[in-house]
Amino acid sequence: MPQLNLPLKHTSLMKWPADRIVNSSPKSFGIYEKASALMEQGIDVIHLEVGRPNFDTPLHIKEATKRALDDGLVHYGEFPGTFKFREALSEKLATNNKLKVSPDEVLVTSGLTHGAYITCVAAIDPGDEVIVLGPYYPQHINKVELAGGKLVIAPLDKENGFQLDARLVEAKITDKTRMIILVNPTNPTGRVFTRSELLGLANLAEKYDLLVMCDEVYEQILYDNSAHISFASLPGMFERTISLFAFTKGYAMDGWRMGYAVACKKIMQDLLKVSMNDIAHLNVFVQEGGFAAITGDQNCVREMVAEDLRRRDLVCARLNNIPGVKCNLPEASIYAFPDISAFGIPSAELAEEILESTHVACEAGSFYGEHGEGHLRICFGAEPYGRLQSAMDRLTEFFRQKREQPIQ
Ligand SMILES: Cc1ncc(COP(=O)(O)O)c(C=O)c1O
Repeated sequence: MPQLNLPLKHTSLMKWPADRIVNSSPKSFGIYEKASALMEQGIDVIHLEVGRPNFDTPLHIKEATKRALDDGLVHYGEFPGTFKFREALSEKLATNNKLKVSPDEVLVTSGLTHGAYITCVAAIDPGDEVIVLGPYYPQHINKVELAGGKLVIAPLDKENGFQLDARLVEAKITDKTRMIILVNPTNPTGRVFTRSELLGLANLAEKYDLLVMCDEVYEQILYDNSAHISFASLPGMFERTISLFAFTKGYAMDGWRMGYAVACKKIMQDLLKVSMNDIAHLNVFVQEGGFAAITGDQNCVREMVAEDLRRRDLVCARLNNIPGVKCNLPEASIYAFPDISAFGIPSAELAEEILESTHVACEAGSFYGEHGEGHLRICFGAEPYGRLQSAMDRLTEFFRQKREQPIQ
């Protein structure tokens, strides 16, 4: 091999990484990192921090995927996802979401995370402002920053059960605002926004000509008589909304990494531009599992939601029995968001203390931004009923001792 006699350069002249990486916030996994350290020491931690469904993926979905592999579906496929799958998704969207879309307005993504990332890359120019409702789902923050956007937090109305008050959002709109990120049903508060709350936001989107990215990952996990409304189904909203869905929670398929983005053709062509340069397309045989999920019997979803409901009722009742803790019943999702402000301890400190003394991992409300302070987020969907009972026993005892401690 010929030798290149180039002068050695000092590696410090090499620019790495790009400014947008330097300038983005470090990714935090919250209390999970501390819980993992305890687990490495062999401690059995009860996980109420991570939103990982405590169910196996339904059998017929796994079998369809295995069949696809055996049938040789192992080669390149269509960039937006297989036509058959997108056609089935468009039928589901018409029936369940009141969204009449063609298969060309559906793009299969690698989980909701990927849909959110390609949306941010396609929508945001450096300096654009993006409004997120606080308390927020933290994993959307980095995507906005990586795309060069500036994050602006508009609070939900905490005094009224974290309602979406359009006036609080309007106060944050400037001439640089480009997009609003909506998570509905919400994480961490477990609310399902009503039609009138969503219409308030729709009026703003229209008035200020804004895009809306709507994360609907919890659309299937609804309790009591809650009804989920897809934001894009509101009058005039389809043309300005990127709706994001996933198989993650409803079908217990978090490790499969499968979701889909829905948008009008004008927006879709640019989402596709990012996606095809990113993942090219989602694994073809995995999409067969998604097809089986969406076209198969939905009893599996109903059964999982029924069990989540039982877990919700246990956890919320037990939390409300603890003097000083107040917990609204979540209308959806797998999270309770109890108010622990009566203890006067910052939530991050409290979550750490709970983890260390009880080996129960709860997430601090402040992990969801300043508007989550005064709360803990407790996932009741990641552990079986018996372990939730045990976690609630430990929390009850922890707070009993806390009340008896003299104020420092
Ligand atoms: C609101 C919200 N959006 C998105 C996700 C991630 O979805 P996925 O695993 O499909 O990327 C989660 C996971 O907890 C979530 O809570």
